[in-house]
Amino acid sequence: MPREKWSSRIGFLLAGIGSAVGLGNVWRFPYIAGQNGGGAFLIPYVISVVLLGIPLMILEFAVGRHFKGSIVSSLKRIRKELRWVGMIVMIVSALVLSYYLVITGWTLAFFLFTLIGTKLVFEDITQSYLSPVFFAIVGVIMSVIVARGIGRGIEKTNKIMVPGLVLLLAVMVVYALTLPNAMDGISFYLTPDFSKLLDYSVWTAAFGQAFFSLSVGSGILLTYGSYLDERVSLESNTSIIAVFDTLIAFISGLVVFSIVFSFNFEPAAGPQLAFATLPLIFKEAPYGIVLGGVFYLLLFFAALTSAISMLEVGVAVLIDETSMSRLKAASLFSGILFVLGFPAALSYSRMSLQILNTPVLDLMDRLFGSHGTIFTALLTSVAATWFCDKRTIVNQINKNTNCNLGGFIFFLLKYIIPLALFYVLVASIIFYE
Ligand code: PHE
Repeated sequence: MPREKWSSRIGFLLAGIGSAVGLGNVWRFPYIAGQNGGGAFLIPYVISVVLLGIPLMILEFAVGRHFKGSIVSSLKRIRKELRWVGMIVMIVSALVLSYYLVITGWTLAFFLFTLIGTKLVFEDITQSYLSPVFFAIVGVIMSVIVARGIGRGIEKTNKIMVPGLVLLLAVMVVYALTLPNAMDGISFYLTPDFSKLLDYSVWTAAFGQAFFSLSVGSGILLTYGSYLDERVSLESNTSIIAVFDTLIAFISGLVVFSIVFSFNFEPAAGPQLAFATLPLIFKEAPYGIVLGGVFYLLLFFAALTSAISMLEVGVAVLIDETSMSRLKAASLFSGILFVLGFPAALSYSRMSLQILNTPVLDLMDRLFGSHGTIFTALLTSVAATWFCDKRTIVNQINKNTNCNLGGFIFFLLKYIIPLALFYVLVASIIFYE
């Protein structure tokens, strides 16, 4: 069977944006920036996006497009032993997806309950059977989409949900910025504390966040690249995805902090900001139902389009390596994810599944979402630049552009970026409190 393809450049672009824009932008970026120097955080963040994120994205697209295979098949075509690297990448991205889906389930639950007028707080969902039930529901939705294939499933979903989430975000921006005291929130968020730039952990936080947000290192971009037409320019499309992703994260911060300050809530609530603090506000705000509905639908669209991209990594491996049907591969992989993510779905329940005093979900986010993806990005960049022929990659990058930056990007990817990643990885493990 010929390999599936994106039906158009826009379809590919929207799928790339859909994967990048996710919970990382709306839920994670605002509180990470808030905790790490506010406006000053944008400096290390933009540096990591431009110098590390974009080259790594381009590399993944290039390898996928040239070798036309899943993460395992493509790396195997470079050299047989590299299939193990592919397997590691696939396993880490499955682990990320397993807890990511739990949070995706919360967004759907909050949306539906807000809509029918039930004013829920965080614990109502996480402590009840609702958390595992919605985890299963979004798992089924995700696998149905992926089972329908690249064009009819993934591309079509992104063509609806990505414009949809932009529209929803626009509504939230207008609302949030016209609230009384919105400016206080914005100045909390954006007043730069430059002394923080001397702090090591701010830089590692920025790198980790940029990687997570751009979906780098998890094999997704490589897999999406394998369905890409040779005529599409990698440099310009990657830059569009990265700029879009960064803008959405930045704007989400404006929304979240304006709302939180306007209603006099505690801004430094960390990871619970979107799920514990905002529901309390939507409960009492005028038109809270509408706003809560808009906000959680936005989060749900963002999360689902990222989740399907992660599922496609494993599904593509199963299809390429075993010639299994798409439907079978999607069902099998989702079943495995359900088992992997079940402890995370119970981590805030009354059973409060914890390891070392940390809820399982938080632990998985730290281990796999932050350290894991930096590690797999390091593995991928080394595998593709030290073992693959330089011309192959450079030709791919330089196709259909006038900038001819391929050689320079390859140099960064071969020497500078692996060193930087190694450094960040070691530092983030040592300095993580
Ligand atoms: N980029 C997505 C986000 O910002 C999440 C993601 C992480 C997707 C890792 C794939 C791999 O939420």
